[in-house]
Parts: sequence; C-alpha cells; structure tokens
Amino acid sequence: MSDDTPDFPPLRSRRWFADAGMRGFAHRQRMQQQGLRRQDVLTRPCIAIVNTWSELSPCHAHLRERAESVRRGILMAGGTPFELPALSLGEVIVKPTTMLYRNLLALEVEELLRSHPVDGVVLLAGCDKTTPATVMGAVSAGLPTIFVAAGPMLNDRHLRRTPQGCEARTVGAGTHTRLFWDEHQAGRIDAAEWIALEARMTRSPGTCNTMGTASTMTAIVEALGLALPGSTAVPAMDAQHVRNATTAGERIVAMVREGLTPQRILTRGAFLNAATVQMALGGSTNAAIHIIAMAGRAGVELSLDDLDRLGREVPVLANLFPSGDRLMEDFHYAGGLPALMQRLSDRLSLGEMTVTGQSVGRNLEGRTVLDDEVIRPLDRPVSANGALAVLRGNLCPGGAVMKPAAASPRYFHHRGRAIVFDGPADMMARIHDPALPVDEDSVLVLRGGGPVGAPGMPEWGNLPIPKKLLDRGVRDLLRLSDARMSGTHYGSCVLHVSPESAVGGPLALVKDGDEIALDLEARTLTLCVDDAEIARRRAAWVPPASRYERGFTRLYQQHVTQADEGCDLDFLMGTAPTPEPDIF
Ligand code: FES
Ligand code: MG
Repeated sequence: MSDDTPDFPPLRSRRWFADAGMRGFAHRQRMQQQGLRRQDVLTRPCIAIVNTWSELSPCHAHLRERAESVRRGILMAGGTPFELPALSLGEVIVKPTTMLYRNLLALEVEELLRSHPVDGVVLLAGCDKTTPATVMGAVSAGLPTIFVAAGPMLNDRHLRRTPQGCEARTVGAGTHTRLFWDEHQAGRIDAAEWIALEARMTRSPGTCNTMGTASTMTAIVEALGLALPGSTAVPAMDAQHVRNATTAGERIVAMVREGLTPQRILTRGAFLNAATVQMALGGSTNAAIHIIAMAGRAGVELSLDDLDRLGREVPVLANLFPSGDRLMEDFHYAGGLPALMQRLSDRLSLGEMTVTGQSVGRNLEGRTVLDDEVIRPLDRPVSANGALAVLRGNLCPGGAVMKPAAASPRYFHHRGRAIVFDGPADMMARIHDPALPVDEDSVLVLRGGGPVGAPGMPEWGNLPIPKKLLDRGVRDLLRLSDARMSGTHYGSCVLHVSPESAVGGPLALVKDGDEIALDLEARTLTLCVDDAEIARRRAAWVPPASRYERGFTRLYQQHVTQADEGCDLDFLMGTAPTPEPDIF
C-alpha cells in the first residue's frame, strides 16, 4: 500500500499512514477527522514544525504567526505540515532558571519527533535555552532539521537626563538593564526614570538584541550549517523574517528528499567553525556549555581546550554589547553572520555541508561587510583579549571560564582575599552590608550555584558590586562562582568552576580570607592554601543535603553532568541508536 512518490526516498511517516492493518486505518482516519485528505499523508512528506511559542515567552511572541509562514512554505513545496507545540523557556520569566529545563526540552523534542509520523522538522526557537535544547533533541532524533531563529528585537532610544543636560542613547535588552540598575543603585537614576525605563529597551517581540546568549546560540547554529545563511540576525519584526520562515518551510521538504540529516552536517569542522564564530562575535560564556552539549549529541569530540585555543587565536570583531557598543539590528545591516564569516574565511572549514545543500564556502560567495565599524577588520578588532579563556588550577581541576573582552584588564593578573558566600540568600543578606570587609582587591566567591547544587546552574555569577564600592565609583571586581552569567552582562567574572562545590569541588573548601590568584595569560586559577590544609578541609567537608525528594529536579540532580561536559543528562548523551517505535 506504499504510495511513495518517485522522487522521495522511503518516508518514515509511511510506517504509520501506509500501514495496511487496523492501525493504519485509524491513523489515516484521525487525519481525515481534522480535514486532511488521504493523499495528504500518503503522497507527501510529513513535516513537523516544533514551536516554542508561549505567552510567557516574549522573545517568541511572534512565533505562532511565523509558524503560518513556515506552513505556507511546506505546502508550496509539496509537504504536509504539522505544528507541534513544545515547552517554552522564556529566559527572564522561568524560575528558578531555564537552564534546569534545557535538557527537558531537548528530551521532549527528541521524543516528539520519535513518536510521531514525521519525516523532517523545522525548529522555531531563539531565546537562550530553546536554541540549544531544540537542536540537541532534533540531532538525537536524526531527522532532516532546519532551524528558524526568532530573531532579535528592535533597537530603542532612551533620553537620559544627566547633570550636563539630555543625552539620547540607543538601548537594548540585557546589558542596559544591569548598567542602569547599577546607576540606579548609585543614585544616578531616580525612581521616576527607573519606572520609565521599564517600558523602554524591549521595543518589540524578539530575542535580546545584544550579543547575549540568544544571539550567540542562534549564530552558532547558523555557523554549524543548520539555519539559512544570514537568517539568524534578521530582526524578528522584519518582513525578511517572514520570507525566511517560508523559505525554511520550502527547503525542509527538499532536505527530506535529499536525506540531508544533521548527521551529514555536524562534523568536527562544523563545530570548529561555530566556535570560531562564537569568539569573533565576542559571544556569551554560556555557549561554552551549550556547544559542548550539542557536539556530544552529534558524536563530535569538542572540549574546553578547543574553545580556549580559538579564544586565544580569534579576535573579537563584532562591535556588539557587551564587548562593544552596537546592537543586533546594526549587525544585520552590516551584513550579518555571512559577512563576518566571509571576513574569517581563512580560519573556517569551507567545505562543510549546510541546510542549503551547499557548502559553507558556497553560501558565503558574494557576501561582504557593509560597515567596518560594526564588523571590524582583523587588524582593528574590538578587543584583542578574546571572548573566552579557560582557566585551570587547584581551584578548578575541570576548568572554569572567563570572558576577557568583557572584563577589566586590572584583574587579568590579580591576587586578592576571598569573601565567600554560600548561595544567593547568604550573598543578598550580606553583600551591601557597610561592615563587609570588601575593597577593590577582594575576590567575591559564590558557591552552591552549580548544575547539581543550585540546581540548574542559574545566572548568579555576575555578583553585584557592594553598594559602598558603587558609591565610590567602583564598577567591577573579581568574582568567582560555579554558576553562569547572563551573556548580556559584563565584568571580571570567573564562571562555571568545575567540579562545582555541591559535588565536593575545591570551591567548597575556600574560606574567608584565603588568597586566590588569577593569571589570565597563564590561564591559571589558584587557591593559595597549602595542600595539607586543603586535605584537612576536605576530610571535614559534609555534602549539602538536596531539598528535592521527587520530580524532574530530582532526576536532574541525579543525572546532570558538570559544566565542562555540557550539563547534559548522562543518559541523553552520545549517539547510541534509539529504536523506531513499534507501530502495533
Ligand atoms: Fe529571551 Fe534574552 S530573554 S533572548
Ligand atoms: Mg540571557
């Protein structure tokens, strides 16, 4: 009873719809129940549109509408679309942290695709965790996949009142929030202006328009070859965004015909391309976790050492917040990612396959930088300090990361005394206490912020500057934690200390007053306490009790890996085949 059209390989969806028995009858009947015709599921490829739209996910607010454009493209190319809603993770809304649910969404996408009669998938996502999550799930499912990024929100303008008069500034989400909050804390932004700011900076649906985690991850996915070239920086509200969605729908049908699966696209070369792009963008430190997790799903070896090497070699060329001073709209006008990649082409593996069916090099032909201020030439980088450095030492045997381009050179070679906070409640209770013995040389340490401990590794790593130092004009301090930091933030923050304190990493053994030494050039982070004393402290250490006796958080704590391994759940890693479901 197979009705495969001659130009398609045997289609997976036919296992459901072309079955000659009672089950096949029921599958077809249930499609007819919703108005589809028999031939719609018997003679066409069935395409999933996995949509992370929700009303509590403002970055994805337009994706319900955008799914219609994808649907149009699928229909025009001769496919049958099926929209499948998936868990939405609005970064600023979800508590305790979206990171706790990245793997849950990845698992959901994999199982959605595995259990349903679909032949290919279009992923609609873009906020920080929805991008790596949907890609991880789709890669594990192994069906032809194309990614449609939500796209950045539009720039806004804000009129700042200063003692010198008024000053109009272009503002965006993320970086400016922290910047203005610090000014508010220091008394330079009054209550009325603070309230007015609530309605500014986030002018339209779309993802944060800085080079935060969202823009970093969608760029990485484009550089991997899983999104249409130039698509990920197109503003969410641009008509080109709508056209790209339609093209993606059209293209996925062809990809099913070509058998173009993620496994043919995601090579080690593709991942090194993506990591190179991450560095040139001055991308988020969070990407160090997500790119390793995605590589793990593709069966590609990629380590923190690879990222450190590229962090040393590749200068930051994209002049975007938080490393620079422009926003994603400017990046798009400057030519977007293909222009940046063209500029880096000597350092890229140009032969890698992409969703266009063409190589990276072919996709870059004719692309050029349109504004050298936004995408800098190699000899005039935004920062020569690099987007990522991986530190090692007795305080972080598994590694820790730092973003030199967003940190103060004052702390690149530094030794100071620790002030230790056990979790965010302890930190918030004491950080602004005028009696806290803190000065510019202190090293603020936060522990209990890791994947197991917090749990979910929240973005607590950008510890606030104590108010008494803010009042004196101090805007940065060396800070250290096993947590993450928002990609939109800046500061001298050492993050992802691994192993984390909750599983007995050395961070658990630090005491107030201990000296900590950072040497960025040597890539070392050292707890300057002798080994015998560290051993004594270790013998006396008692692991913290978990508050979670049941539920997803319990499962997560039992199975999550450390930051240097990508924080995936151990049973989701790797490429072992998962059998197709029985159809009986
Ligand atoms: Fe969604 Fe920043 S909150 S991208
Ligand atoms: Mg973020």
